[in-house]
Amino acid sequence: MRLLVTGGAGFIGANFVHAVVRDGADDVTVLDALTYAGSRESLAPVRDRIRLVGGDITDAALVDRLVAESDAVVHFAAETHVDNALADPEPFLRSNVIGTFTILEAVRRHGVRLHHVSTDEVYGDLPLDGAQRFTESTPYNPSSPYSSTKAAADMLVRAWVRSYGVRATISNCSNNYGPYQHVEKFIPRQITNVLTGRRPKLYGSGANVRDWIHVDDHNSAVRRILADGQLGRTYLIGAGGERDNLSVLRTILRLMDRDPDDFDHVTDRAGHDLRYAIDASALTDELGWRPEHTDFEEGLRATIDWYRANESWWAPLKDTVEATYQERGQ
Ligand code: NAD
Ligand code: TYD
Repeated sequence: MRLLVTGGAGFIGANFVHAVVRDGADDVTVLDALTYAGSRESLAPVRDRIRLVGGDITDAALVDRLVAESDAVVHFAAETHVDNALADPEPFLRSNVIGTFTILEAVRRHGVRLHHVSTDEVYGDLPLDGAQRFTESTPYNPSSPYSSTKAAADMLVRAWVRSYGVRATISNCSNNYGPYQHVEKFIPRQITNVLTGRRPKLYGSGANVRDWIHVDDHNSAVRRILADGQLGRTYLIGAGGERDNLSVLRTILRLMDRDPDDFDHVTDRAGHDLRYAIDASALTDELGWRPEHTDFEEGLRATIDWYRANESWWAPLKDTVEATYQERGQ
């Protein structure tokens, strides 16, 4: 299969490309604008086995040409960080909404299969206390400029399926962790804070809950859906990994042999979503998918080891990221 992967130089996309190449895929093209969040280095291990095209998903002529040469598109490319969206939403509108529209028009013209990668944040948040979880029928209720642009993109995909018969599936996944995640995000930020002698930074009281999944489990689910998902359907991806931020931070500190209280409380995020939790039973029941990385502490330990061993990958990004956070009081 000729596979086009947008955003394949980012965190989840790069791990996806590594996995498909490892399993023998021999016709993979990555389209990535190599923004601050994308890195050629993330694809270095598979450099000779793929084609990397530096370009923007809003470039209709380029997207049209690459889609015409493909059998399927897996669409990861997006602006993804909530704090950046709060500071400047414009790039999120452009990449997430116009970019997805551009991909949709090209797959429509060429009759190419699309899998659109999205987030559980489109559903808004859940109360902290309670057992409620997001399902495929939870109404969209996004809170942030990031999640609202992802929600808009999902809506476009649904409309293009219904109106034009585009052959697409959508997945909405919970928070990922693992290797190659940008140091602006919660888990790698705290790990690299410790590794560079900085104190970890917790927003507010740390009571907010995220439903953590290892990036390889997210990607194995995407591959299941691409292979056997029902066209037009939305699948929720999650691995039952709910934890509050304070507990995650204290676990990181313990695994790194630090005092679990050795961190700073910083200004909370505006509009900070309280809790996300996924009910992935449609995916497990219908497609038989199961997560493999079910021991969160083990996954975290391996992730810490990866950041220790790959300082050359993240060190050039660290000072700029921390300077930006400092300006925002975070
Ligand atoms: P990331 O920020 O690490 O990577 C995004 C990639 O997209 C980068 O390589 C960047 O250069 C590229 N990109 C951005 N704008 C582009 C444009 N206009 N044209 C071409 N390339 C562009 O993001 P990630 O964490 O890997 O997330 C990938 C996808 O998964 C996103 O769609 C995100 O919404 C979704 N998602 C992420 C998570 C998570 O926890 N990280 C959870 C659920 C869903
Ligand atoms: P993040 O990785 O930005 O993912 P998202 O906002 O998409 O869930 O943040 C995860 C959680 O961690 C979120 O509740 C915000 C919080 N957080 C901190 O407490 N400190 C930090 O330095 C960062 C970046 C995030």
